[in-house]
Amino acid sequence: MEALHTAPRWTTRTIDSWTRWAPNQWSLRIPRPDNFTFTPGHYARLGLPAHSTSDIVWRPYSIVSAPDDKHLEFLVTLIPHGLFTSQLATLEAGANILLDPGVMGFFVESQLAPGRTLWMLSTGSGLGPYISMLREGGVLRRYESIFVVHSVRTAAELAYANELRALETRHPGVLHYVPVVTRESGSGYLARRIPTMINDGSLEVLLASSLDPAFARVMVCGNPQFTGDMRALLRDRNFQPCRRGLIGSMLFENYWQ
Ligand SMILES: Cc1cc2nc3c(=O)[nH]c(=O)nc-3n(C[C@H](O)[C@H](O)[C@H](O)COP(=O)(O)OP(=O)(O)OC[C@H]3O[C@@H](n4cnc5c(N)ncnc54)[C@H](O)[C@@H]3O)c2cc1C
Ligand SMILES: NC(=O)c1ccc[n+]([C@@H]2O[C@H](COP(=O)([O-])OP(=O)(O)OC[C@H]3O[C@@H](n4cnc5c(N)ncnc54)[C@H](OP(=O)(O)O)[C@@H]3O)[C@@H](O)[C@H]2O)c1
Repeated sequence: MEALHTAPRWTTRTIDSWTRWAPNQWSLRIPRPDNFTFTPGHYARLGLPAHSTSDIVWRPYSIVSAPDDKHLEFLVTLIPHGLFTSQLATLEAGANILLDPGVMGFFVESQLAPGRTLWMLSTGSGLGPYISMLREGGVLRRYESIFVVHSVRTAAELAYANELRALETRHPGVLHYVPVVTRESGSGYLARRIPTMINDGSLEVLLASSLDPAFARVMVCGNPQFTGDMRALLRDRNFQPCRRGLIGSMLFENYWQ
């Protein structure tokens, strides 16, 4: 009988490097397969063998690297007792991880109608897709102003802060990085949640720009309660969601249910 040959459904990659921003916030880099192409905002699935069974645990992760990078980079929040991340946390550089060759997602900036200002709002690891967009650079040419607002509990979790500050210096007046640290009193950073600072108008005053759907475009990524609150808030201001094939003025990515 002739053997059946099917294309492998995943590929094994070696973790080349880790960046440990904080005990619970790490980035990893794996070599990008030659035929693996994506648009900033897409996510890929990473897999690890389950501890107790022969199954593989797969989880989606937004790609942080630029499309032309020879590596794929991911920013991962380590969840206490998380099925995938608690195992990931035990791996060193040189360990193997599985990569699903298909990329997925609709959190891409081209879903938005052309605008003048772009608000990139995130909590925790939700910053990742914006780093990919900024490294690719197209958004920096298309918008007059970009506001990257990143909310974390502690300052150590402000991943990519140095890169964002350097980019801010290279694009004066265009890129504005706004770190928010919510659980470290006296840190000197903004300390209130993003929807609170938008609701009371203080973030718009600080950035001297209004969240007006006539010219502002908003991307929101991370904690689902945050994205839910932002959706309601922006809907009240007449922002329009992006539906498949129909451009809009606000776009969301939830990292869990
Ligand atoms: C489209 C998409 C893209 C994603 N991209 C990323 C990414 O780039 N980086 C990333 O860290 N995660 C990302 N996630 C979440 C990721 O897929 C896993 O759910 C997460 O790593 C937890 O897996 P786990 O098996 O360790 O935890 P599980 O045992 O599955 O526990 C899940 C619980 O952990 C919490 N949780 C899950 N993800 C996060 C998170 N990112 N931050 C804080 N708490 C969380 C929630 O309470 C959730 O109910 C993404 C999810 C989706 C749907
Ligand atoms: N980060 C840590 O130091 C830490 C330590 C131990 C365990 N953990 C566990 O790790 C998991 C992930 O924690 P995480 O800190 O990465 O993610 P997170 O809880 O989503 O918090 C990240 C940021 O999002 C903000 N946020 C949360 N809900 C929001 C909402 N509805 N609207 C606006 N902003 C909101 C948080 O502000 P608030 O601070 O106001 O919530 C914080 O600034 C959780 O299960 C947590 O229990 C985290």
